Amino acid sequence: MKILMVCLGNICRSPLAEGILENKIKEKKLNWTVDSAGTGSWHVGEKPDYRSIKTAKKFGITIENQRARVLRKADLDEFDWIFAMDSQNQRDILALCQTQEQRNKVQLLLSFSNPSLGLNVPDPYYDDQAFEPVYYLLNNACNHLIQKLTSPIVQHSNNAVTFV
Ligand code: 4NP
Repeated sequence: MKILMVCLGNICRSPLAEGILENKIKEKKLNWTVDSAGTGSWHVGEKPDYRSIKTAKKFGITIENQRARVLRKADLDEFDWIFAMDSQNQRDILALCQTQEQRNKVQLLLSFSNPSLGLNVPDPYYDDQAFEPVYYLLNNACNHLIQKLTSPIVQHSNNAVTFV
């Protein structure tokens, strides 16, 4: 299973999401890979925002080796699931899609993992205090994501998103 986490800049939310999921993948010895990308290209080549690095470190997760990249059309074929942090990200990703198969892969992270958490992972860029709550939101979402994608219903489905 190949999973791509996507936000706007690929420096705050999606690098955290990548690091959190990567950590759980290793812990649970899942045969999955995770990557992240941004819909915008301003920060290409940069490390994650220092506040995301610091927050991840607090929870024992290293993300400073990541480098920001922009979402490419090839990602839409390469990855099995593409999780948008917010609905603007989702619209921007969908605008790149050319087939229904690609569109089916594009999900709003929180709607997919646990809708009770709300729809959007808020952008913490302009609020230093928001990074830790975003971490908890993403950690919770990743737990539910793993639960959902490792359930027997999902294993036997053919990429349909209609499981419970
Ligand atoms: P991210 O946060 O999408 O979670 O990486 C942002 C990072 C940079 C900007 C906006 C959001 N920016 O405008 O540069």
